Amino acid sequence: MITINSGIAGKLRAFGALLGMLLLTPTSYADDIPPLEERLQLCSGCHNPDGNSVIPENPKLAGLDKKYLQRQMEDFKSGKRSNEIMSGIITMVDEKEFKALATYFSGQIRSVGATDKAELVAEGKQIFDEGVIGTAAPACAGCHNEDGSGSSAFPRLNGQNSTYVVNQLLNFKNAVRNNDPKAVMQSVAKRLNEKEIAAVAEYITTLKEAE
Ligand code: HEC
Ligand code: HEC
Repeated sequence: MITINSGIAGKLRAFGALLGMLLLTPTSYADDIPPLEERLQLCSGCHNPDGNSVIPENPKLAGLDKKYLQRQMEDFKSGKRSNEIMSGIITMVDEKEFKALATYFSGQIRSVGATDKAELVAEGKQIFDEGVIGTAAPACAGCHNEDGSGSSAFPRLNGQNSTYVVNQLLNFKNAVRNNDPKAVMQSVAKRLNEKEIAAVAEYITTLKEAE
């Protein structure tokens, strides 16, 4: 956490310096959007240059659908989705940059995660493929695909960091994240208990896209 925060502080300082420079040329400020490569340096610190974040709390962006990525950025910007870190970061990014950033990360190849918790993975696979009968939790595969590769309507899950997945499922369950269309993920997550959430997240991180 400390290193992340000091990373933000450094970026904020750099941003302050950049803003100072821009203010010297006020007429061009509104349209002065940094080139994509420069902007990607900001994202890379937390999401990795190829979008396969190695920080457990931070999502892998690689291979997510372009429109999904763009909408999440818009939602952080408008406050529809909120997170103490990402909500701050997005204030530095102009909406006109979202499309190019989304295109870049959607074009990266998603990496697979590792686990040594075979039992939990087996339990998670059952939930992912078949749902939970007792609480009528639907199979994740029904929307996100059997291999978790997703589609334009449903985000890619395969290989995602398990800690991030647990956090999102808890956020949906507690309606802390409520930007999902028709509250569809909230109604799924409400049907899972914490043990089931841990299991399905562990399985998701090991999921590999079918060839
Ligand atoms: C200081 C770290 C940090 C930086 C820098 C950062 N992010 Fe994030 N990002 C996060 C965290 C943490 C989350 C998870 C938020 C949550 O739990 O809801 C996140 C979530 C996201 C999501 C949602 C992904 C999903 O699967 O729903 C997108 C999109 C995103 N970031 C894009 C970006 C872009 C583009 C940049 C660069 C302009 C960037 N981020 C820079 C930490 C960061
Ligand atoms: C009826 C369709 C449906 C089912 C079934 C479903 N999901 Fe989802 N899921 C969605 C939608 C739609 C979103 C995107 C919400 C948004 O756009 O913000 C989503 C988003 C997510 C996210 C957030 C991804 C990210 O990158 O932030 C996770 C994690 C997730 N689902 C896990 C699951 C798990 C685990 C299951 C099975 C227990 C499941 N989903 C079942 C429709 C579904």
